[in-house]
Amino acid sequence: MIRNQWYVVLQSGELKKGKVLGMTRMGEKMVFWRDASGQPVCQADFCPHRGVALSIGCLVEDHIQCPFHGFEYDASGKCVLVPANGRSSEPPKALKVVAYQARELHGYIYIWWGDEQQVYPELPWFDDLDDSFTTSDLVDHWTVDYSRAIENQLDVFHIPFVHADSIGRGNRTVADGPLAELKEDTLEIWVYSRVDDGVSTAKKASILVKPARPPFLKFRFPHLWMNRISEDVRITVFFTPVDNENCLIYLRSHQRFLKVPILRQLVAWTFNPANRHILNQDKRVVLTQRPKKTGMKIGEVLVPADGPIILYRKTRELLQKQPQ
Ligand code: FES
Ligand SMILES: [Fe+2]
Repeated sequence: MIRNQWYVVLQSGELKKGKVLGMTRMGEKMVFWRDASGQPVCQADFCPHRGVALSIGCLVEDHIQCPFHGFEYDASGKCVLVPANGRSSEPPKALKVVAYQARELHGYIYIWWGDEQQVYPELPWFDDLDDSFTTSDLVDHWTVDYSRAIENQLDVFHIPFVHADSIGRGNRTVADGPLAELKEDTLEIWVYSRVDDGVSTAKKASILVKPARPPFLKFRFPHLWMNRISEDVRITVFFTPVDNENCLIYLRSHQRFLKVPILRQLVAWTFNPANRHILNQDKRVVLTQRPKKTGMKIGEVLVPADGPIILYRKTRELLQKQPQ
């Protein structure tokens, strides 16, 4: 996992006001709640007094209360009450819960996973995904590191095999290129696939030029992917790390080709079964991959069509090494 980045860790709807939610994200046990103004709070799920999970505690006014001895902590993690010492005494400064920056946007809760910053970068999103789209969401749990799930979505030549009855119909097994570029923190990928006509990919690849149309796939580090099916239909996924062997797929369909809002919402919902079917086809294969986490030297024998994956791995490694 790349430190010093924003990560989507929950959908907004998962975090209800007045409730305390314990979840593992980024390989750490975390507790989530909302303060009195509704802002999301994310903290280490660990009471600094004697190590109890705060997620089995409850909210008292604008504080989280540990279930063991009732110590209360505010959103910044500062201890504001030690009941055994009495309300009139100041709690020791050392009683501090680790707190993460948490923000909410586009129906997601983001946390900053890394060192405290003077100024935080903007939350990762694709700016052309605005309010003109109607959306529907689905969530899935995969028992692999998030890198495997990401690489599956950057891999364009599995489609005729894994999805032969859906998006891979037509037996277009030959992949020319693919063309992959890194622009700041975003990978852009154009896909060329065709039925095998006997012309080698090397020759075809040499004539590939960057087309005028926008890329078919975009991937913004550390974990946001978008498939641009058309100007009016997109799919995005946040690949959320749970730990080194588990991740969540927060998938959202976006469409605006229908103009009547109610019809548009109905159609948006019909996207979910199709997306679930395609996702299950991917999952069946990816869950068997070993090792569960990818890297530069894991003994795989890659071919030219794996170009986007190689670029992803190299960039990830650079970002992981970067002093921040
Ligand atoms: S362990 Fe949390 S208050 Fe004692
Ligand atoms: Fe797939």
